[in-house]
Amino acid sequence: MRTVLLRSLRSAAARSAPSNSHLLRRGFSSESVPERKVAVLGAAGGIGQPLALLMKINPLVSKLSLYDIAGTPGVAADVSHINTRSEVAGYAGEDQLGQALEGADLVIIPAGVPRKPGMTRDDLFNINAGIVKSLCTAIAKYCPNAIVNMISNPVNSTVPIAAEVFKKAGTYDERKLFGVTTLDVVRAKTFYAGKANVPVAGVDVPVVGGHAGITILPLFSQASPQANLPEDVIKALTKRTQDGGTEVVEAKAGKGSATLSMAYAGAVFADACLEGLNGVPNIVQCSFVQSSVTELPFFASKVILGKNGVEKILDLGPLSDYEQEGLEKLKPELKASIEKGIKFANEN
Ligand code: LMR
Repeated sequence: MRTVLLRSLRSAAARSAPSNSHLLRRGFSSESVPERKVAVLGAAGGIGQPLALLMKINPLVSKLSLYDIAGTPGVAADVSHINTRSEVAGYAGEDQLGQALEGADLVIIPAGVPRKPGMTRDDLFNINAGIVKSLCTAIAKYCPNAIVNMISNPVNSTVPIAAEVFKKAGTYDERKLFGVTTLDVVRAKTFYAGKANVPVAGVDVPVVGGHAGITILPLFSQASPQANLPEDVIKALTKRTQDGGTEVVEAKAGKGSATLSMAYAGAVFADACLEGLNGVPNIVQCSFVQSSVTELPFFASKVILGKNGVEKILDLGPLSDYEQEGLEKLKPELKASIEKGIKFANEN
């Protein structure tokens, strides 16, 4: 998985002169970099604003559409002054949602409310499920072919909600709907590098399952480089990765959940989707997608991204006994969350 943002930042910084060397560094001539419209829904929020900034410095984006119920004209005016490729437009209020979405290749959804200490992600269901449902209804109408990156929690339920909305609208393409679980991978890499005492830039750790508590299953047995950490350390790393979101919620003490690291993770994943759309080969990311890797209808695992979204879902690979146990333990919870989302979408 690539450190694309650093590359983007470096190239943006190196680019005050009117040069297109950053485009060439990605393996394209300037003429061949496709136009790509990216819409961020919830762009005035805690995740949305830094995500808007990170998408503005991504040279693969030609149009950046920032939507929220309010506040987006200001965010758009602000990031629009940054001297990078994309044109920026802000849209506020439901009346402008159609315009925000029209022609989008990629829609990123961080909209909704965050957790407070003591809450689980599922406690957000009652508010965020309705928000996601109405945004997805608009996506089906205005940009039915777009790739959708779902960040709004509980991801284990909001992705199935989106799938049901798209199915009802007749626009569902399972290859184009993704639950963003990149922050779990980002955390697993950071925590593993610390314990293994290796440079984090060279670390990879697949994380499978879902995006809540024990449904987050980091596969440290497949981490690279291999560090042969003792079992008690692996267990502690697993727990810290599973509780990473809660660690931030508690540290923020009522002022929300992870916004900056989530925006970073969302931007890494969005960049990978754009590279896949543009035909860059071998783009691999973990994501929560429709899947037959297990008996559950949605599951996070490594996927290869291509011109139409998911090109191939990779098998889980060999698991340690501890991971196998974790996999069996997470299934009932993940199944219940998926079913809750499907039920909501069909009854509301
Ligand atoms: C995270 O993983 O940080 C996010 O899903 C937000 C949360 O509530 O934990």
